[in-house]
Amino acid sequence: MTELSFIHRFEPATEPNKPPLLLLHGTGGDENDLLGLGRTISPGSALLSPRGKILENGMPRFFRRLAEGVFDEADVKLRANELADFVAEARKAYGLEAPIAVGFSNGANIAAAMMLLRPEALSGAALLRAMVPLSETPQVDLAGKRVLMISGAMDPIIPADNAKRLAASLTEAGAEVQHHMLPTGHNLSQTDLQLLVKWFAEVKR
Ligand code: MLT
Repeated sequence: MTELSFIHRFEPATEPNKPPLLLLHGTGGDENDLLGLGRTISPGSALLSPRGKILENGMPRFFRRLAEGVFDEADVKLRANELADFVAEARKAYGLEAPIAVGFSNGANIAAAMMLLRPEALSGAALLRAMVPLSETPQVDLAGKRVLMISGAMDPIIPADNAKRLAASLTEAGAEVQHHMLPTGHNLSQTDLQLLVKWFAEVKR
C-alpha cells in the first residue's frame, strides 16, 4: 500500500473510462466499509477509500463535532482541506482524474464541505444523508459539478429542511443537483442503491 497522508484502500480501475470514486464512510466506519457499495454502483471504477482521522469514543470520523448535528466548524474547514490535499496526493500517486465523492452521513458532510471549500478536488458527489456542513456558505462556482443527494424524510439526525437547504446552496452555486427525499430514516435503503446505480449510469464522459 502506497504511503499517503490518510490510511486508505485503493482499488485500480478495471474500466479505464469509468470515473474514480472517493468513498467516505460514516461515523464508526472505516476504509473497508464502502468498497462493496462502490463496486456495485459504478462497476470498473477506481476506488479510493480513506479512513477518517478523528476518533470519537474510538469511532473514526472525518471531523470533530460538539454534539450530534453540531459541528466544530473550524475543524470541518481544517479537515476538508486536509482531505482535499490527500485527494491531490492520491491522484498523483495513482494517476487519477478528479474523483466523484460517495459519502454516507459524516462522510457525506465532509464531501459537501470539500465541494464548497475545495471544489477542484471533486468532479461531483453523491451525498447520502448529508446536512449543511458550514453555517455560512462560501462563495464558490460549482458549474459543471453533478451532485446526487438522497435524504430520509424520517431521519432522526438530519431535519429534512436542513438537507433541502444544502441542496439549495449547491444549486445556487451552479451545481447540477438531483435531490431525492425518501420515506425512510438515516440508514440506507434499497431505493438509495437503485438511485445511485441510475445516477452513475448517466455520468457523462
Ligand atoms: C455528523 O456528525 O457528521 C452527522 O451528525 C452525521 C453522523 O455522523 O452521525
